Amino acid sequence: MKVIVTKDYHEMSKVASEIVSQVVLDNPHAVLGLATGSSPIGLYNNLIEMYEQGTLSFANVSTVNLDEYVGLNKDHPQSYAYFMRNILFDHIDIDLNNTHIPCGSAENLDEQCKQYSELLKNLRQDIQVLGIGSNGHIGFNEPNTPFDSQTHVVQLAESTIKDNSRLFNSIDEVPTQAITMGIANIMNARKIIVVANGANKADAVQKMVEGQVSESCPASVLQRHSDVVLVCDELAAAKLQLQK
Ligand code: GLP
Repeated sequence: MKVIVTKDYHEMSKVASEIVSQVVLDNPHAVLGLATGSSPIGLYNNLIEMYEQGTLSFANVSTVNLDEYVGLNKDHPQSYAYFMRNILFDHIDIDLNNTHIPCGSAENLDEQCKQYSELLKNLRQDIQVLGIGSNGHIGFNEPNTPFDSQTHVVQLAESTIKDNSRLFNSIDEVPTQAITMGIANIMNARKIIVVANGANKADAVQKMVEGQVSESCPASVLQRHSDVVLVCDELAAAKLQLQK
């Protein structure tokens, strides 16, 4: 895994956006795997800026998102569908018909999972953007998710519900289930970029990069992928050996 340590969030976002934009410049029909969360917001802001400056177009790009809460409709402000429109899609020239997010309606969940994995076979990510949970989750693949998993429904870990409750009015409003790309779907991406910032990510980052590859830390599987770059700020990198 290639590791790039940056001074702060601003620089992390700049480096990450250069890597993602290069993929689109190389292939205007690229498939981008996208993530939600606060980590990639700066990266998305920079992509919007490149679009506004006329140096990047998403007109022929397709996107597949990692995950969605179960039970929030796409107009709920905390749904990932809403997040993606609000943070990125509404500000660039992407065709919304080419953007894909697991649906998350509480009905026919098994069927939805199957359909999403089928879709991913046809839309293999040229690059997958990932954040990392403080417990090492990627997408919503919580600790002990099998590495060979496809899109599935998950029961969110207590720590994830607590981490994500900051965005809801109260912890009781945080959905307890989500639908997520499986680890095998993520690993199928041609290239993967992980963005991580802040001291609360330092343990997870250390385990991901230098820990044993184990299902107890889902992100550690990335050590087995041949093209992964981690871009993280100094706080998130603080526990890495390479920092010592
Ligand atoms: C959420 C998302 C993940 C995201 C992670 C980190 O639970 N499902 O895809 O990477 O949390 O979020 P943040 O970037 O806000 O720290």
